[in-house]
Amino acid sequence: MCGIVGYVGQKQAARILWDSLSRLEYRGYDSAGIAVLNGAGVATIKCKGRLKDLRERLSELPPATQGIGHTRWATHGVPSDTNSHPHHDCSGDIVLVHNGIIENHRELREELARRGHNITSQTDTELVAHLLEENYRGDLLQAMMDTVPCLEGSMALVALHESEPGKIVAYREKSPLILGLGEGENYIASDIPAILPYTKKAVVMGDGEFARVSRDAVEVFGPDRKPVSREPVMVDLKPEAAEKAGFDHFMIKEIYEQPEALSRAISGRVRGSSVVLEPGEYGLTDDQAAGISRIYLLACGTAYHACLAGKTMFERFAGVPTEAVLASEFRYQDPLVDPSVLCIGVSQSGETADTLAATREARSRGAMRIMSVVNSALSTLAIEADDVLYQRAGPEIAVASTKAYTTQVVSLALLAVRLAVARGRMTPHEAAAFTRELKELPAKAQTALKLAGEIKELAKKVALKEDVFFIGRGADYLAAMEGQLKLKEISYIHAEAYAAGELKHGTLALIEDGVPVIALMNDPSLAPKTASNVMEVKARGGWIIAVGTEECLNKLELDGDDVRLVVPATHPLLSPVTSVIAMQLLSYYAALEKGADVDKPRNLAKSVTVE
Ligand code: F6R
Repeated sequence: MCGIVGYVGQKQAARILWDSLSRLEYRGYDSAGIAVLNGAGVATIKCKGRLKDLRERLSELPPATQGIGHTRWATHGVPSDTNSHPHHDCSGDIVLVHNGIIENHRELREELARRGHNITSQTDTELVAHLLEENYRGDLLQAMMDTVPCLEGSMALVALHESEPGKIVAYREKSPLILGLGEGENYIASDIPAILPYTKKAVVMGDGEFARVSRDAVEVFGPDRKPVSREPVMVDLKPEAAEKAGFDHFMIKEIYEQPEALSRAISGRVRGSSVVLEPGEYGLTDDQAAGISRIYLLACGTAYHACLAGKTMFERFAGVPTEAVLASEFRYQDPLVDPSVLCIGVSQSGETADTLAATREARSRGAMRIMSVVNSALSTLAIEADDVLYQRAGPEIAVASTKAYTTQVVSLALLAVRLAVARGRMTPHEAAAFTRELKELPAKAQTALKLAGEIKELAKKVALKEDVFFIGRGADYLAAMEGQLKLKEISYIHAEAYAAGELKHGTLALIEDGVPVIALMNDPSLAPKTASNVMEVKARGGWIIAVGTEECLNKLELDGDDVRLVVPATHPLLSPVTSVIAMQLLSYYAALEKGADVDKPRNLAKSVTVE
């Protein structure tokens, strides 16, 4: 994800900014840039690609003791030199870096263009530089205060003005910013690791707060524009722990990042009750949408499980027969692809060899269009597909996929609704009901995370078991498939998922005293039937761990050691998001109990670039 740094002091700014940016490299980025300010004005270097490319160009910058820097993870506009930050206003006097998403960027772009601004990039960030220009009357802080009321979305903004040397101005709204305090120098950063080698004393900005930072002072102003007095905190973290934001592993950090990742995935894409996607994200004409005879969703592993959830949404909402196909099998099934068939590749890394092979196969067979859902910008799938809907999950470093799964489910939901509306299959009323649920999902994910304490205790017992079964019906069965994969890949406990109704057709033979059966129950219309299957398991001594909504779990008669894990109710087709979060936590804590290397499970790699 994007990283921000700022420095004002007595040392050469460019080197410090580059060094601080390199400490944020672990977060992932596709381009980087630095702007410095000295008596002669602002100078900027920026480019698509790696920080080492930028290092080679540091000598182009003049000596300066003040500047701002940025690593970009593309959201609005492809990774390119032009779209890299810092961005300038028309005069070039104001330079700005930004983390987050300006949701009302379309309206702003139109208005600014109408008012004659020369907008050079595809980014939402540049628009803020032009708004600052309009609001600038000799005081950049004031201009920032006058600009942010025009902005909707999430943002950490850091800016300089050529006429105000020695000052950096910042604003924070739903995207973190900290101010690092030094002796005769001060820092700004989006993340603690950036400043750790320089200072451990920091002021944490709150939402809606502004800051003006100079060599000798750090001033914070509240949303009411009045000065705020804020005690600095001492940051007591080793650089490596800071990368994990204080969490023990990347996996648990990424599990906890899901509410924010889900909000980013939805941000700006659900407007009122409609799903609004950019042309590069969804490029079908309404005629093409009407003519689709079939959809293939192509992916591997966890991404395939997300596709299974997506399949139901495409069929139910858009009325198109849809198949989720394991990308590694696609070529061998002689797929029925023709110009009426839409193919969608889904991949966190965008580099999975089988997924790439499947989408290429689909193209060679004449598919109507290759769309994609991808997390990593600049990845091969993102480049090769006709459309890319970025998941915006942020870099996923742990091998076991967590926030990529939940953001894939949501991204596919957005595509399904968009297509359904284009095909006239979803009334505005139905779309409104579903998009309301989508918007509530980040908060519900946050509630599901509160189960962590309970699940940690439960994991001590699960870790002692050799086999675990997961059951569910409908979307719960699809979530069960992801739950079993998570458990086995990081804890090495044998796990299987079954459609609850299938148990009695064979698997029930394996249930005996104390065998754990995780029953997922989130769909009230299916809960009574799953409850009967749970009773079949209990009658044979099985140990029930029920995960689901209060309403569904009330259908069960549990006793003894049986466990209830209540997750918030949502649309049943979105429930894999909430219940899988509970299973991610169970897998994580069970793996910890077993002493497994959680972030790097044996035999597995993050990006599988071989077939
Ligand atoms: C499991 C996991 C894998 C990936 C699969 C596809 O936790 O991470 O199953 O989901 O290798 O990877 P991407 O999404 O990068 O194509």
